[in-house]
Amino acid sequence: MSICFDEKNKTLTLHTRSSSYQMQCGPLGYLLHLYYGKRAEGSFDYLYLPRDCGFSPNPHALRDTRGWSLDTLPQEYSGACCGDYRLSALEVVTDRGVRGADLRYVRHRCSPGKYTLPGLPCALDPDGEAESLTVTLADAASGVEVELCYAVFPQQDVIARSAVIHNRGSSPVYLEQAASLCLDLPFGTWELLRFHGRHCMERQPERLPLPRGITEVSSLRGMSGHQQNPFAVLCAPGAGEEEGTCIGVMPLWSGSHRTAVEVDQSGGLRLVSGIHPAQFRWRLEPGECFAAPETLLAFSDRGLGQLSRVLHRFIRNNICRGPFARAPRPVLLNSWEAAYMDFDADRLLTIARGARDLGVELFVLDDGWFGARDDDNRALGDWFPSPTKLPGGLEPLIEKINALGLKFGLWVEPEMVSEDSALYRAHPDWVLAAPGREPVMGRNQLVLDLCRPEVVDWLYGTLAGLLSRCSISYIKWDCNRCLADLYSPFLPPERQGEVSCRYMLGLYRLLDRLTRAFPQVLFEGCAGGGGRFDAGMLAYCPQIWCSDDTDPVERLSIQYGTSFGYPLSAMGAHVSAAPNHQTGRSSPLGTRFVTAMSGAFGYELDPGALTEAEKEEIRSQIRRCRRFAGLLCDGDYYRLTGAPEQGDWSAWLLVSPDRSEALLSVVRFHPRANPAPLHLFLRGLDPEAAYALEETDVYGNVVRGDPVAGQGEDAPALHARFSGAALMYGGYTLPPLFGDAPSAQLYFQKQ
Ligand code: GLA
Repeated sequence: MSICFDEKNKTLTLHTRSSSYQMQCGPLGYLLHLYYGKRAEGSFDYLYLPRDCGFSPNPHALRDTRGWSLDTLPQEYSGACCGDYRLSALEVVTDRGVRGADLRYVRHRCSPGKYTLPGLPCALDPDGEAESLTVTLADAASGVEVELCYAVFPQQDVIARSAVIHNRGSSPVYLEQAASLCLDLPFGTWELLRFHGRHCMERQPERLPLPRGITEVSSLRGMSGHQQNPFAVLCAPGAGEEEGTCIGVMPLWSGSHRTAVEVDQSGGLRLVSGIHPAQFRWRLEPGECFAAPETLLAFSDRGLGQLSRVLHRFIRNNICRGPFARAPRPVLLNSWEAAYMDFDADRLLTIARGARDLGVELFVLDDGWFGARDDDNRALGDWFPSPTKLPGGLEPLIEKINALGLKFGLWVEPEMVSEDSALYRAHPDWVLAAPGREPVMGRNQLVLDLCRPEVVDWLYGTLAGLLSRCSISYIKWDCNRCLADLYSPFLPPERQGEVSCRYMLGLYRLLDRLTRAFPQVLFEGCAGGGGRFDAGMLAYCPQIWCSDDTDPVERLSIQYGTSFGYPLSAMGAHVSAAPNHQTGRSSPLGTRFVTAMSGAFGYELDPGALTEAEKEEIRSQIRRCRRFAGLLCDGDYYRLTGAPEQGDWSAWLLVSPDRSEALLSVVRFHPRANPAPLHLFLRGLDPEAAYALEETDVYGNVVRGDPVAGQGEDAPALHARFSGAALMYGGYTLPPLFGDAPSAQLYFQKQ
């Protein structure tokens, strides 16, 4: 049993393998949060002794005792304006203007399996391990009832949470905030690890001590955004890769979000996570309900590395759906950096032929194939083949590509429309735009109003038509601007506060319908690279284009940061041309491969521009990638070095779940004269077992005879044997790597 109710203490306890979570129905029916931490039995109510704290007020019924205040006690789901001045999870305003939420326990219910939230991405329970708990709280004055939903995944150290708000009263109410979760940790010191970024440099880790007051991770862009990823980690001070307590908070939400952390007057911490409450106001009619997006709490008492592995497994097993969730993905070649928008059918076929000769499995036609799309100022919305570039249409092109033995994939950006398009001319009212204001433009395009069911239906019809007519195996779903004008002509004035949220619900509805109707199609998410890289999108798209920056050295930082929350199988990563189109750097082809193969792998270059030697190298890369595909889908990932900015080299390790194989990758991005040895401690191996070094591959612009690993006297001896314990505790020293961004991969196999 992972959920227990203690009748005597009125405590509800959730247990996972390593963690326990406890709440208690306290005086007057207030639901107190007692504990979340390392697994422990018993009741934690002894921690909360009555305490008269000045200027922390008391509920009316307890006014004489003064020792009991909502402002000092940990709450399970805090309501606004009821004497708790810390962050609120729920803020309700009645139609008479009464603000607040005084939430009291009504009942609870435990059930086997995992609850669902219609219309929202949700964790699944493929292994049948989950148990669910619903605790109902009510605010008598507004008639609002809250169902707090918990699903415990005991083997995975994950608890999924949500809150469903019902209006059980007889008048409408407005929700000004409806968080997915509130988490109070009244004792201890915590640091916040968050992931900031920008276009072409997403998800850079930033770890900060928490000051008094509020610190947050947020986006008001109508998308999760390049700037602050919706993933946050609370770390005990000193928690590192291998040790210490860490709690990951990961919303399954791709729109405006906020995870706010407050350190209160007594040093206690409260975290509230959910849809960003700014620009949010949801009208609930009597009888209606609103479901807050699901959010994962993941626990590790063995450091950040373990937390990442918990989340990687959970995302692969329980978030991603469909046949590709855990399967090797086809090696693709994307036309974007090969031809941009400058192509016709012959040029595409030449690229596709070149790709086939390299061993690529899937040819992806990126932007530029539709309407009058000769540059990025026009034609979004006109999802029919360009009459000038593809006069014969898509079908004959796809047939020829299929005849080469390649699958075909297509780029679309369905949520957007150009002013210069047939769609906009026909439906100028289908966009988000505020009356009396000129709409904000991003990449010279407007955002379709996905609050409007007919727009979602039209998009479904258009895309389903394409997918039914043509043999398309893969869709790259792009989104190249953020929302700005939060006004939908479709909604009445009192519902305009719902626009940003309804937009995302419309998108989820569309993605849900399409992915259910076409389960054999692999969807890759994208938003100017990794601008919408979140667990919500991963429920529909098992991989997301990680960044528009394909430079392998830059990618080391981006993929390193991304790896804290998301598995390698989710990170779209391609080998592109040298010099790199974003940075101008030339790096060895092998290093581009080593970086990209630690992701959902592909190419993004013109095969016609390659030398014969490069082609041969790519053929062997693809063979290698296929060989290690299982490790990439299922392997446990270990970061062996810190943030690339802090050193001159980066190393990471993949270990198969049965610990029989380990693939070590190293990139040296800053060459040094007289360098210190590159010494690594491997992790995750079986200490008792013997491992042999079965393969060493070194890539770089080096001259044979230089003292370079694999090429000179310092070459690691193939078939050398080590115990797992030796490799982990004594470590392994690589010979120096010379040249511009050289790299190496070493493969160890259990004997
Ligand atoms: C975005 C994507 C790129 C490419 C272009 C096409 O920027 O991230 O990969 O598809 O759009 O316009």
